[in-house]
Amino acid sequence: MKRVLSGLQPSGQLHIGNYAGAIQQFLRMQRDHEMYIFVASYHALTSSKSASDLRLATRQVAVDYLAFGLDPSHCHLYRQQDVPEVTELAWLLACVCPTSLMEKGVAFKDKVANGLAANIGLYTYPILQAADILSVDPDLVPVGRDQVQNIEIARDLAAKFNRHVDAEIFRLPEYRVREDAAMVPGVDGKKMSKSYGNTIDPFMEEKALRKRIMGITTDSKGVDDAKEPETCTIYQIYAALAGTQDHRTQMLADRYRSPGMGYGHAKQELFELIMDIFGPARAKRAELMAHPTLVDDVLRAGAKAAREKAQVVTAKAREACGL
Ligand code: ADP
Ligand code: TRP
Repeated sequence: MKRVLSGLQPSGQLHIGNYAGAIQQFLRMQRDHEMYIFVASYHALTSSKSASDLRLATRQVAVDYLAFGLDPSHCHLYRQQDVPEVTELAWLLACVCPTSLMEKGVAFKDKVANGLAANIGLYTYPILQAADILSVDPDLVPVGRDQVQNIEIARDLAAKFNRHVDAEIFRLPEYRVREDAAMVPGVDGKKMSKSYGNTIDPFMEEKALRKRIMGITTDSKGVDDAKEPETCTIYQIYAALAGTQDHRTQMLADRYRSPGMGYGHAKQELFELIMDIFGPARAKRAELMAHPTLVDDVLRAGAKAAREKAQVVTAKAREACGL
């Protein structure tokens, strides 16, 4: 069975864009892969957050992933902070990393270009990410397009380290870029993103969720006008969640094309779809929130499994460089 690793920043409430773009893929993969999924709490320290915010956000991501259906019997879910070996590995990798490699980092360059004060943690963020990856010796790292540079840096550092110590300490992981097939627009029609404040949170209280969906921006066509599904945000979100081939999606498209359906109806359909798709996740989340020890147990077991791997890799790397 192939081993898979991926990490998530604990940076705000997950939305249905994250679900369609990333989470769904993990859910599919966990059936036939050995999965290591972690919450990147050390990485979160590179952008300022209060201790209580970080604690809460780290917890919430873990809870939400479990609610969405990550199954602890197939998937080791853990917090980065519970595998301190990664910080040691990051140091060993930093010592074979030319500064020029970090200067190319897009996340760092973006932040500086936006006039924000960047710290050394952000500057060396890709090194810590490389350590996360190499620590569990994965076969495959599934990521979004924006992460490709970081994964290439991880491969590069692994190869540099191996060359430096003249031994195959690290295996270079493959990566898989998620295609953007399911790019979900937000309520304003732009890409759904927490930085644009246009997200739909599937765990919202029902009334607020309905209100959010009723607020989706549309053109001003009336009930009796024929409409184009493909250019409408409501339909695009619907299709991203249900799939374009789904009979419900196709029925909705037909209703768009013939007069008699207003956007209010389409929004109601979308609301019902979301309640339908996320009903089990909503119930599971409520259960997990009511029983925090269930989550503690999952995170503890996940960290134990990841740490066992990380300890082996770190011991080899230490030895190879003379420590
Ligand atoms: P955000 O844009 O809200 O900050 P992130 O950048 O944290 O989201 O995204 C985490 C992952 O979720 C990304 O790697 C991407 O694959 C997926 N994702 C985010 N937004 C969308 C979207 N609107 N449509 C599809 N996938 C998305
Ligand atoms: N940088 C990733 C993001 O912002 C999160 C991350 C940290 C990660 N370490 C990782 C992703 C290791 C994949 C592998 O989304």
